Amino acid sequence: MIKVDLKHLNPYYVKRSKEYEDLVSGINMKLHDGSIHSDWTGWLDLPNQITDGTIDRVEATAARIRANSDVLLVVGIGGSYLGSAAGIDMLSNYFEKSDTEVIFVGHNISSQYIAELVKYVENKDFSINVISKSGTTLEPALAFRIFKNILESKYGEGAKERIIATTDPESGALRQLSEGMEYETYSIPRNIGGRYSVLTPVGLIPMAVAGIDIKEVIAGAKEAFVDSSKSLDANAAYQYAVIRDIYYNEGKKIEIVAGYDPKFKMLFEWMKQLFMESEGKQNKGMFMASCNFTTDLHSLGQYIQEGPRHMIETVFAVKNVKDDILIKTDEANLDGLNYLSGKSVSEVNNMAMLGTINAHVDGGVPTIILELPKIDAKSFGYMAYFFMKSCAMSSILLDVDPFNQPGVEAYKKNMFKLLGK
Ligand code: PA5
Repeated sequence: MIKVDLKHLNPYYVKRSKEYEDLVSGINMKLHDGSIHSDWTGWLDLPNQITDGTIDRVEATAARIRANSDVLLVVGIGGSYLGSAAGIDMLSNYFEKSDTEVIFVGHNISSQYIAELVKYVENKDFSINVISKSGTTLEPALAFRIFKNILESKYGEGAKERIIATTDPESGALRQLSEGMEYETYSIPRNIGGRYSVLTPVGLIPMAVAGIDIKEVIAGAKEAFVDSSKSLDANAAYQYAVIRDIYYNEGKKIEIVAGYDPKFKMLFEWMKQLFMESEGKQNKGMFMASCNFTTDLHSLGQYIQEGPRHMIETVFAVKNVKDDILIKTDEANLDGLNYLSGKSVSEVNNMAMLGTINAHVDGGVPTIILELPKIDAKSFGYMAYFFMKSCAMSSILLDVDPFNQPGVEAYKKNMFKLLGK
């Protein structure tokens, strides 16, 4: 489904990427047969293993929430938040929201954000999906305490029916609390880490409540599973990983991911976590920045065109847009735009993309194009799996562990000390 277009790269590097064939197929085999990182590779076969029973259960939970709630508060941070936020952002109408609004909380400690949300839900019917693999992360635990109390004062005993916990199958404070309180719970498989969990109930429940067809999401992931098991010459996910590795080793330490539709915004946030938390270790790893064009061409464009030449760019090109608008002729032509008459808005956007790619390539920014047929639930599921597979490969090529995040502990240690924990 995703095609990787390497025509704007140095042909010498593209040729060199073919030399990775044996290395990549060796790593792929080891990932799949469990000889490396087997404690954390449960997501690899997930698209094929997820049962109809699980999907039906998630859809039933979502239908119940939609029937009794104006708002679903999704409480989580990092991998327990960004995947579903990406799916919902990408697949929802920009302005008409689903009947049950999905609002994220617990991904910051802003008192103003929390206080304004308390006010917002005060006179609404709401439910909570609290998501935390460890069950001990401060940001979501704090938000959950606040909104659980509001729910309990509002619904009394009935509050229980409005809380769904997604957490570790056995351990952690959230697991104990949920069992004690008899909340409906979903388990995050032990061998799937936060940023690789979007296709588990972590991502599926909020997306289903937002009205997204989660069967299609899984169908897309299944397709990506097949494509990303092929040999390197036919495997876009691994070609992307290899090209990043080559350019990284040639001194390009920054990758810009760029889209020409704001629907990519949260997907890029999810990708930034996935890639940087997986790769950024032992003083290594590509820094990923995201751009929403053409908006950011009027803010970051200057730097990309003429700033330091230390970056590559990955452009997300969508072949078929869902809705298009024809530009009409205006008799007076006071705005001078009649040269666009008869063209569509998406054609203009496409020309902006092609013009920008050429300008950036000429300005010394090697550019990879990832071509998507369209934006829908299936392509979202495909991308989710595609990038997880690609990220695991590129981290292993860098010789770092894709599945841990030891560096995240440093801020927590200082914060807990300051808070007197
Ligand atoms: O990828 C990861 O493991 C992390 O980003 C976690 O998702 C994040 O820290 C939240 O953790 P938890 O789900 O345990 O609250």
